[in-house]
Amino acid sequence: MRIVLLGAPGSGKGTQAKQLVEKYKIPQVSTGDLLRAAVSAGTELGKKAKAAMDAGQLVSDDIVLGMIQERLSKPDAKAGFILDGFPRNIPQAQSLDSMLARLGQPLQLALLVDVDQEVLMKRLTGRRNCSNAACGAIYNIYFSSPKTANKCDKCGSSLTHRSDDNEDTVRKRLTVYEQQTAPLVSYYKAQNKLRSVKGVGAVGEIFKNMCDIIEVQIRPLANVMGQAAAAVGKGKAASAAKASAKAAPAAKVAPVKKAAPAKPAKKAAPKKVAKKPAPKKTAAKKKVVKKAAPKKGKPKAKAKPKAKAKKPK
Ligand code: AP5
Repeated sequence: MRIVLLGAPGSGKGTQAKQLVEKYKIPQVSTGDLLRAAVSAGTELGKKAKAAMDAGQLVSDDIVLGMIQERLSKPDAKAGFILDGFPRNIPQAQSLDSMLARLGQPLQLALLVDVDQEVLMKRLTGRRNCSNAACGAIYNIYFSSPKTANKCDKCGSSLTHRSDDNEDTVRKRLTVYEQQTAPLVSYYKAQNKLRSVKGVGAVGEIFKNMCDIIEVQIRPLANVMGQAAAAVGKGKAASAAKASAKAAPAAKVAPVKKAAPAKPAKKAAPKKVAKKPAPKKTAAKKKVVKKAAPKKGKPKAKAKPKAKAKKPK
């Protein structure tokens, strides 16, 4: 399962990604998290990224692409991944497409979490994150505050306030999103990979809607099979077979092919049964009777078969 989560800063990508990880057992790959880890570790990469992040600007494509390539080559990403915060512009999206094409694992879905801008400021300035990276719980002092102030409900670690979650930087991030990231909506629409979910309301409800989309978009087998079965039922087996052959691997076509020959098989079967068994039964009965009769009358030695005639008794 290979998914990109699209959406403005604060739309809830991280919140939803954490639940998707639990459900589908594939890793969340967040470029923001990777960059923040590099910043706090004080690596060269982190030092280069920090200035851009503090200014609400995008970190250079070179840095981000190198990070993504390394992360996606790890074993846990083989079964799939949820990209959160990447790609952020058209060149990154094109690089991702090439990278995944080389691996023979194209992207399956770009899921846009759609939230109006006015909601985002409060979400971002009110956000608090668990300082324990292994936990990563996300809170909001306005919408989902922890039971104890500044303490994670799940692991008890202290909560942090991201340095770029202040009003000034948030404004810049939202502008950068509109200018550089929002065009990705058209980019993925053109690839027919874009689906959208309303990102306002209960987190659980949004999550359910996202899962519904994922099931339909990434697991088309069931749908194609369902369509094929319905078409067969309406006597449209041929068109169903063509449709499923286009949309799905060969395995999906198989049941349609089997279903189609079922009709002629039914017609052919009765003909064969009617022709062969009927004469055989008649002939067999007659032969037994006819043969038994002349044998009785001929040589005495052949009278022994009389014993056989007793068997039926
Ligand atoms: P990044 O960390 O990716 O930040 P972002 O995209 O700005 O997204 P956020 O993490 O801020 O928001 P989110 O959508 O994950 O929302 P969340 O779920 O936390 O990037 C940070 C910086 O790194 C960038 O500015 C850039 O400099 C750099 N960077 C990263 N990737 C890059 C790349 N590919 N290229 C170049 N530079 C890159 O939710 C937000 C708040 O809302 C939380 O408090 C949450 O509790 C609350 N909330 C969530 N859902 C709901 C809901 N349904 N109702 C009420 N509240 C909700």
